[in-house]
Amino acid sequence: MNSFKPGLEGVVAFQTEIAEPDREGGALRYRGVDIEELVGEVPYEKVWGLLVDENLEPGMPDPEAYEPVSLTGNAPADLQAETARLSAVWGLKKLVDIDAEQARDDLARLSAQMMSIVAKSAAVHDGRQPAPDDVVAQGQTAAEKFLLRWRGEADPKQVQAIDTYWICTAEHGLNASTFTARITASTGADCGAAMSAAVGALSGPLHGGAPARVLPMLNEVASTGDPESYVRDLLSRHGRIMGFGHRVYRAEDPRSRVLKRTAKELGSPRIEVAEALEEAALAALRELKPDYVIATNVEFYSAVVLDVAEVPPDLTPAMFACARVAGWAAHIIEEKRTGRLIRPSAQYIGPTSRALSAV
Ligand code: COA
Repeated sequence: MNSFKPGLEGVVAFQTEIAEPDREGGALRYRGVDIEELVGEVPYEKVWGLLVDENLEPGMPDPEAYEPVSLTGNAPADLQAETARLSAVWGLKKLVDIDAEQARDDLARLSAQMMSIVAKSAAVHDGRQPAPDDVVAQGQTAAEKFLLRWRGEADPKQVQAIDTYWICTAEHGLNASTFTARITASTGADCGAAMSAAVGALSGPLHGGAPARVLPMLNEVASTGDPESYVRDLLSRHGRIMGFGHRVYRAEDPRSRVLKRTAKELGSPRIEVAEALEEAALAALRELKPDYVIATNVEFYSAVVLDVAEVPPDLTPAMFACARVAGWAAHIIEEKRTGRLIRPSAQYIGPTSRALSAV
């Protein structure tokens, strides 16, 4: 029997107690708690605690003092490189040589520091010095401190936009980056290696990079005022409409619902064009694939919400990484507690035995 599944779709690789989206899309729950209950009620750093410790307290700590060696301003690349370096700088021990409590503490340090690295890289990108620690310390929440470190100021609406985005995207079951984190953890590598590997997997547009491609779409539709033609043209070139479709959900993504509401509450200037494009895209995709539900995914309104916080499109994959440190950390600990070295098989379909001279 050939059990090969391209993209491992539907293959159950782990059991998890953290979160797993339900296919019909009704809700997303972290350790059983609906994200609708979390947004606006507790800040992101407490959601980190819920996911990692199954307890809101103490949550994710503040980052300790640390100066990254050389930031380029390309945030995903800076984050991946600097996170890997932290293993050496902090002398993190291999997961096989530490207990789960030590792994949790390493991941807490790393998570906080990863947010700080992204904020500093974003400042470098803007040609600015990151704000000093005493300015950052005036912030109340991780989102506020992130903006202070990046820009030296934090507008409350922008803080709410980032906090909501981070909470909605903190964890989503076994996607590509989380799988990568677990694979790396399963080898007994240290937590910095597992987290930096996950950042690399997240940087592709089919996973974490889609919001970066949503804003240019919105700009183009705003300039022509004709979403139907935009969508028709794109699909006739076999292009993909970014922010639509999902490997798991066959209904509206619950995160999209929360983010759309937030974009409206925060008075996003792009909400009208986004809704017009969403309507045109859903109609065209229904026509194109009548038997395959392609709905709005998290990335579409993420782009609109992050735009409220004036996050430039090329920073969005790193913003996603900031959010997902919680999910990765929780999965790395779960892998350590329950996992086994991950080593799947491939079905060999290459040439049969032959002499070197035949090559
Ligand atoms: N725009 C246009 N066509 C799409 C589409 C989209 N956003 N999403 C899926 N399709 C089409 C594919 O072209 C494919 O058509 P084909 O069979 O004629 O080749 C069909 O639907 C199935 O696509 P497939 O990639 O197998 O479906 P999937 O459910 O595994 O895809 C994604 C999931 C996310 C990779 C896909 O929907 C996509 O590329 N979306 C755009 C990128 C994006 O928003 N990514 C962020 C995800 S959170």
